[in-house]
Amino acid sequence: MKKFDLFVPTKVYFGNKIYKEALKKEKNTLQGKVLLVTTGRSLHRLGYVANIVDVLHEIKEVTHVEIFDQVSANPKLTEIQQGIETGIKKKASVVVGLGGGSALDAAKAIAVGIGTAQPIEDFLFHGQIPSEKTLPIIAIPTTSGTGSELSKGAIITSLEKQIKTGIRGEHIYPKAAIVDPSFTIHIPYITTMETGFDVFAHAVESYISKEATPFSDLLSEQVIHIVSTALLRLTQNLSDSEAREQMSYASMLMGMNLGNVGTALPHRLQYPIGAHTDTTHSAGLVSLYPAWVTYGYQYSASKFNKIATILSGHLCSSKDEVLQSFTTFINQLAIGKNLRQLGISDAEIEGLASQVTGNISNDPAAEESDIIRKIYTMAMN
Ligand SMILES: [Fe+2]
Repeated sequence: MKKFDLFVPTKVYFGNKIYKEALKKEKNTLQGKVLLVTTGRSLHRLGYVANIVDVLHEIKEVTHVEIFDQVSANPKLTEIQQGIETGIKKKASVVVGLGGGSALDAAKAIAVGIGTAQPIEDFLFHGQIPSEKTLPIIAIPTTSGTGSELSKGAIITSLEKQIKTGIRGEHIYPKAAIVDPSFTIHIPYITTMETGFDVFAHAVESYISKEATPFSDLLSEQVIHIVSTALLRLTQNLSDSEAREQMSYASMLMGMNLGNVGTALPHRLQYPIGAHTDTTHSAGLVSLYPAWVTYGYQYSASKFNKIATILSGHLCSSKDEVLQSFTTFINQLAIGKNLRQLGISDAEIEGLASQVTGNISNDPAAEESDIIRKIYTMAMN
């Protein structure tokens, strides 16, 4: 059997309506002044921000709660800098992230900036790894998609440089993840489907990756099973709380694969699309999947066959059948768009290709010559 490392340093609390109890159990992490990083409007409207603040005030170790709610989708470098400034001014000693992947990634980057007192650009653009001075982080996801609650990455967009890039390192693993599926019940259709597709993409890409291990494969297969049933149930009934619970569970499992295995080409190729068009992470992923499967199939045929077999419920053993099962799934979710529909023009492909960052060699399809440009070109239509 292949050698591998497995590191899951985050304490996980999972279950419906467990957030109060879980926060109270984390009183040793919640010492002093708390900076609550969140995405604002809808979470305020739903009362989630107030709910969390109320519980924090009940914990006697917490001396102050400061809310920073200026985080947008695809969190921006300027927002992170503002959050760091707020945290330093208020002498924050712990950061709580509440929201979707954007809020959780922002919380991580802000915790790095406050704790290390170094410019955040050093970590984003110059490969600096966050040290142990990073403030402790507690992650409370309100969507089920990014798996950021259990991962060691934070993806940030620089509008000035027009790139989306990441901070990675073991010190930005949250100390605790409070995964309470009841927070996800109000998510509208399109976000539910898109974040659900992201969970699926994490499962598929960590399965195809050369870094995959027997343990990560087990999680990937389980998650493809879960998503192929629970997400389809949600297309029929968004209030299906059991399906919501399943999706939160699947998202959390994929956080472990993100931390230990990572993703493959679609995730590397999505970042420039998101930065150029300000479209969602999943919209970009969905647009790339058919092209990626088309080029990647020959390098990972047996694993793609397995995925398609789980997804469709019948035996798939050819590229056409695999492609068919992926496109059927995307059509069932009703979220399929190509790159042109996301606002990319043919003339921009070269520029996008030059902005792909990160290691692509863990994807077996990277053996194909000029693979990045080929995928972008096919994904236009
Ligand atoms: Fe993702």
